[in-house]
Amino acid sequence: MGRFDGKVVLVTGGNRNTGLSLVEKFVREGAKVFMCGSSDASTARGVEMLKERGVEGFTAQTCDISDIAQMRALFDTIEREAGRLDILVNNAANQGLGHGGPLEMDPARFHEVFNVNVIGGFQVTQMACNRFFMKQETRGAVVFLSSNTAQRAIRHRTAYCASKGAINSMVRALALDLAPLGIRVNACAPGYIYTERWDVLDPAKAARRRLNCPLRREASGMDIANVVAFLASSDAGNMTGEVVTCDAGCSCQHMPEDVDV
Ligand SMILES: NC(=O)c1ccc[n+]([C@@H]2O[C@H](COP(=O)([O-])OP(=O)(O)OC[C@H]3O[C@@H](n4cnc5c(N)ncnc54)[C@H](OP(=O)(O)O)[C@@H]3O)[C@@H](O)[C@H]2O)c1
Repeated sequence: MGRFDGKVVLVTGGNRNTGLSLVEKFVREGAKVFMCGSSDASTARGVEMLKERGVEGFTAQTCDISDIAQMRALFDTIEREAGRLDILVNNAANQGLGHGGPLEMDPARFHEVFNVNVIGGFQVTQMACNRFFMKQETRGAVVFLSSNTAQRAIRHRTAYCASKGAINSMVRALALDLAPLGIRVNACAPGYIYTERWDVLDPAKAARRRLNCPLRREASGMDIANVVAFLASSDAGNMTGEVVTCDAGCSCQHMPEDVDV
């Protein structure tokens, strides 16, 4: 018997990297999973990659979460195919890469990051609550993917870091308002996660990153999926408004070992 037998889960950005592990985790533990990427090509590629992992029985549909019409269409599919929703994982993110420093970045890029990470995440959550959770006896749980960069900034990622800080505040605000309605809202804040971007990283840089982790390794997608699944499950039934860090100990150290004094 699976922990999520009979449950219906939506994972945004389930088509690559950590999203694939999130879809795999919930499918393997018994859930019916819906996932989306932002384009037809990226969503189709995600379906192929999940099949290569032996993951089946999920539904994929393209949905740009900053586009309300596409979101409605995705929720129509969930309604038609499953008739309910129990867990929403707000994983989709605009990484805000290549913006340059704060003096030269185009403010339009800032809007793009917030439109996906903050406003998109809010809109999906609002729709999940109104279309499903509030109509069901067993309400629902929401888990956002935040980042430890909300607390400890990384260079040339002003919009991204700010968006993750906004997510942490939004999680607390949503949790407060939705708790009386029986809906829980939490976040997992990862540090380094292994993604396809590591495959093209200079090996010396990858080694230096690992040295920056007290546990000496970045998270796998499944490390993060394990925390998200816990927060979504009844094991975390008395938790709401929490941001749980999963970053190999990065946040607890003042300086990495090689420069410590
Ligand atoms: N990787 C890390 O080291 C790290 C560290 C801390 C926190 N996190 C957080 O953990 C989560 C997963 O990270 P990741 O590195 O696996 O992410 P990623 O590789 O950057 O993938 C982002 C996902 O979001 C989707 N997405 C982007 N814009 C979208 C939109 N407008 N509508 C729908 N989907 C959209 C992408 O779909 P497309 O393929 O269609 O673009 C993709 O599936 C993110 O929230 C990230 O911020 C990651």
